[in-house]
Amino acid sequence: MLAHTPPMGWNSWNTFGENISEELIKETADDWIELGLLDAGYQYLVIDDCWAEKTRDKDGLLVPDHSKFPNGMKAVSDYVHSKGLKFGMYSCVGTMTCAGYPGSFEHEFVDAETFASWGVDYLKYDYCYKPHHIPGHILYKRMGMALKNCQKDILFSACNWGADDVYAWIRSTGAHMYRSTGDIEDKWESIRDIALSQMDKDCYNASHCYNDMDMLVVGMYGKGNVGRGGCNDEEYRTHFSLWCMMNSPLMIGCDIRKMGQETLNILTNKELIALNQDPEGRQAYLIDRGNAAYNNVKVLVKPISDGSFGIGFFNMGDTDGRGSLQFWDIGLPSLTGYGFKMRDLWEHENIGVYKENYTCNLKPHHCKVFRAELVKN
Ligand code: GLA
Repeated sequence: MLAHTPPMGWNSWNTFGENISEELIKETADDWIELGLLDAGYQYLVIDDCWAEKTRDKDGLLVPDHSKFPNGMKAVSDYVHSKGLKFGMYSCVGTMTCAGYPGSFEHEFVDAETFASWGVDYLKYDYCYKPHHIPGHILYKRMGMALKNCQKDILFSACNWGADDVYAWIRSTGAHMYRSTGDIEDKWESIRDIALSQMDKDCYNASHCYNDMDMLVVGMYGKGNVGRGGCNDEEYRTHFSLWCMMNSPLMIGCDIRKMGQETLNILTNKELIALNQDPEGRQAYLIDRGNAAYNNVKVLVKPISDGSFGIGFFNMGDTDGRGSLQFWDIGLPSLTGYGFKMRDLWEHENIGVYKENYTCNLKPHHCKVFRAELVKN
């Protein structure tokens, strides 16, 4: 069975767009291992759109771009596997992919066989050029069925941007994760808007089928395909914390070959990743205090399988803010004799035991994330 926890990996799109090649993939895989990203949990190396020739061959099969991948995809896949990583690729429900390469419409079963023969472990499946006469859920069911029956375990990563009421039907397609928003851009406003749009969707996120809030932009600093001005490290920390708390898959989007130490520190924060990879797979829920003074600071609470909680305070606004959690609001009445032992997951330190509530001040776009363990006073 696949996707016991939110999938973790890297995808070529955010930085490289159409500028992909066998060489890039090999260099990425090499540095991935050296940097310890596999040890941190990142496993799936995914080639996004623009990998194929513009036409199928005479038998109707997809053909890798000869100049980008001169040795074919099996060679790339073998290399990726030799590093202990898993290999992902991309196609689309429509007649063409979003960038205009052949889509899998009416070729679902043969394409699944092709991907299986190349050793593909993960398929991202996009929504462009969708034929109008067939509902989206049928198109995802087709590929879901094809993948489940191609004699190879292939993780199914749906990508229809939250369109057509996807929350209602995506689990029925066999998808292991599903994109719930439009494309992320490497700027604070994009991170903020995506996160805010999914804070009421915690009931649609669970083990084996996760709400995918799109690939990470951590460490892009405005460079590459979706670079739009970039963010600072504090904003990238908030971005990563939100994705961890909200149980999104964690797909790195920056250039791994050029990753600096601070980016690596963010992406390999083990205590944050542990919240994301908790086996119960619950997305954090939003504490709605209905109090205007606190409105810019979102308080998220993620129930963890061992009885503790991930608790995050996120200043989504552009002015200083104050975050506050009354423990009563997460189910702890005042007179129980219990409190929460709080551990700051960015400072990596225990800050003490709190009874009844916790309050903190936050600069714009900053966050604090804790693991809170129930203790008897
Ligand atoms: C869509 C997807 C992106 C990316 C591109 C590729 O926009 O949402 O994540 O895959 O297509 O063309």
